[in-house]
Amino acid sequence: MDRIKIIGGERLQGAIPISGAKNAALPLMIASMLTADRLTLKNVPNLADVNLLARILRNHGVDLAVDGKRSGGVAHLGETFHLTARDIVDTTAPYEMVSRMRASFWVLGPLIARMRVAKVSLPGGCAIGTRPVDLHLQGLKALGAEIDIDGGYVLAKAPNGLRGARVTFPKVSVGATHNVLLAAALAKGETLIENAAREPEVGDVAECLVKMGVKIEGIGTSTLRIQGRDRIDGAIHTVLPDRIETGTFIMAVAATGGDVTLQGARATDLTTALQAIRHTGVEITEVPDGLRIVRNGAGLEPTTVETQPFPGFPTDLQAQFMALMARATGTSVIRETIFENRFMHVQELARLGADIQLHGDTATIKGVKVLKGAPVMATDLRASVSLVIAGLAAEGETTINRVYHLDRGFERLEEKLSRCGARIERISAG
Ligand code: EPZ
Repeated sequence: MDRIKIIGGERLQGAIPISGAKNAALPLMIASMLTADRLTLKNVPNLADVNLLARILRNHGVDLAVDGKRSGGVAHLGETFHLTARDIVDTTAPYEMVSRMRASFWVLGPLIARMRVAKVSLPGGCAIGTRPVDLHLQGLKALGAEIDIDGGYVLAKAPNGLRGARVTFPKVSVGATHNVLLAAALAKGETLIENAAREPEVGDVAECLVKMGVKIEGIGTSTLRIQGRDRIDGAIHTVLPDRIETGTFIMAVAATGGDVTLQGARATDLTTALQAIRHTGVEITEVPDGLRIVRNGAGLEPTTVETQPFPGFPTDLQAQFMALMARATGTSVIRETIFENRFMHVQELARLGADIQLHGDTATIKGVKVLKGAPVMATDLRASVSLVIAGLAAEGETTINRVYHLDRGFERLEEKLSRCGARIERISAG
């Protein structure tokens, strides 16, 4: 298994292109199942999760062609995917696939909507929490799907097709919003989704559906009104920039000091996180090609945050923020309200010398003067990158094992960082 070796202590200087957002690319790819026409997605990041979903979609019958990269192209403009689901040849999403990537469960909505029948494996728990799917099923049932659970599979049918309905989620869920939004696009009549997730990735999927001919009101708000159609067109859509990758690199610069421009980054998708990071003493300014991050030597102000659905502080930046606060000049508190077990990085950060106490959903971080390099273990995607940030700021050598977690969601991470002066390299298992 590959490892990543970091020699800490280098300031970051230069420019980093921000890739397309993984968490938008995945549901956008799934949206291709709604139409027999071609959906072209630009700016798709080259990531393990994207490649796995491509395999899953091919099993369902989606034809995928990827444009070759042209030399001289803009580095952060990703790959172009042409997806055509002329015929859905298989309405089953098997356990071996869905258990490897939860987002593949979101094929359920499009499959029932288009094929009126679906068999999709329950995704099961994962490292960060139990992650049930009750809200997905509640929403699809409201649209008229008949759902049974048998042998670990969701067996869904809608012999007469789905009907638009009012879906009021008792809790905000990104995935359940995607699933119901995608299904509602092909349902008969109007669907109203209340308490919808407002994450920019949901907005991006809704914008793409609009290009595909679906009328949607309320994009970016918690109430989505969707007029279903019996036939959906193809479209061309560009995946929005990855706000979590953006936030991660901001924290890397904050941790090491330096001056880096994040090309293509958008401040509007990160409001609360930017407020918190600015509070630590980092300068973040909007520049014509993205965001410029400057931090010069001074100590980091301790800062308290609580994760919340968008527009709150994202859970996907919680681990990175903890790595940053590990060296603040005082005590910070981080409360994780979205996932019950998203603190696996705490023990690993402690190996580098961080002083963190955990009580239920709350971590108290007493900033230390220095972190010291050590061998550590990646446990999930965002936890792993928090170790990269800590390693960049630590004295000496840090080795991160199990880096396949990083490859799921960060495109060319070592290359992007080393171009800015970081001493980071991948050691292949050989
Ligand atoms: C999405 O996961 C993201 N994944 C996650 O990013 C992100 O952490 C999460 O949203 C929250 O922002 C993708 O976009 C691919 P949820 P999702 O449904 O949709 C509970 C990463 O690192 N819930 O919004 O699975 C759930 O347990 C990943 O890129 C139910 O109770 O998250 C959690 O407590 C990790 N019942 C909360 O809602 C349900 O039916 C929010 O989960 C569904 C969810």
